[in-house]
Amino acid sequence: MTHATRTDGPRGGLTATPTYLVMLGAPGAGKGTQSLRLAERLELLPVSTGDLFRAALREGTPLATEVRKYVEKGVLVPDPVTLRVVEERLRQPDALRGVVLDGFPRTRVQAEALDGQLTRLGARVAAALYIEVDTPELVRRLSGRRVCTGPAQHVYHLDSRPPRVADVCDIDGSTLEQRPDDRAETIQARLARQLPPMYEVVDHYANAGVLHAVAGDRPVDDVTAELLRLADRATGRS
Ligand code: AP5
Repeated sequence: MTHATRTDGPRGGLTATPTYLVMLGAPGAGKGTQSLRLAERLELLPVSTGDLFRAALREGTPLATEVRKYVEKGVLVPDPVTLRVVEERLRQPDALRGVVLDGFPRTRVQAEALDGQLTRLGARVAAALYIEVDTPELVRRLSGRRVCTGPAQHVYHLDSRPPRVADVCDIDGSTLEQRPDDRAETIQARLARQLPPMYEVVDHYANAGVLHAVAGDRPVDDVTAELLRLADRATGRS
């Protein structure tokens, strides 16, 4: 069974409106970690723009040429490119049941474009879940993160979530590596360049009345529990 909100349809009957959740937070706040957990529990599709771009880079698709210099330097990919990728992804059949968006929108232009696309689908963002973490902790998380090179890109941390065997993924046995944008010099650039536009997106959803902030400097399970509670309330499940 997929998760959807039941609402009155145009003829008075009940129709299923897909649920769209947005995960907001600075680089390293835990958006990816939490969006996978929420998507699984709520039976929604997780869509991460960072993962879409990194997949293109791995596979060497034409999109890789457009995004490489931005992603590797930790600079935002231009809005027209990002919007094209997301619009295409949200039109796929597996996305029509509802989505947890991780890493998108990241600018006011992207947020407004998403509103427009969802309006055309007869939907809207049910909740924007903002994970707040202070800068020293963000730097610690990003510099210690290791990601598996398998297709699922399982995420580890050298201190807080180490693999059982050094540099080997517990789940699929792939080698672990550091993302190029997690090197010390790039982390600083990401935080400096990406936080100002993110705050505009936070304001956008605050003005829309769907923003929910959670403290992200707590154990992963505690953050998940609060996000699920907020998502359930926003989507009418509790
Ligand atoms: P993207 O992949 O979205 O990177 P990001 O936003 O920088 O986010 P991260 O993946 O670094 O962190 P996260 O918040 O998901 O944290 P995670 O769960 O991994 O984007 C990459 C690049 O693509 C961008 O720089 C840009 O160039 C481009 N891009 C993407 N989207 C774009 C867009 N919309 N527009 C334009 N350009 C775009 O956790 C981090 C670490 O902390 C992990 O090791 C994890 O194990 C650990 N951790 C998580 N939670 C906790 C916790 N509660 N306690 C302790 N450790 C924790």
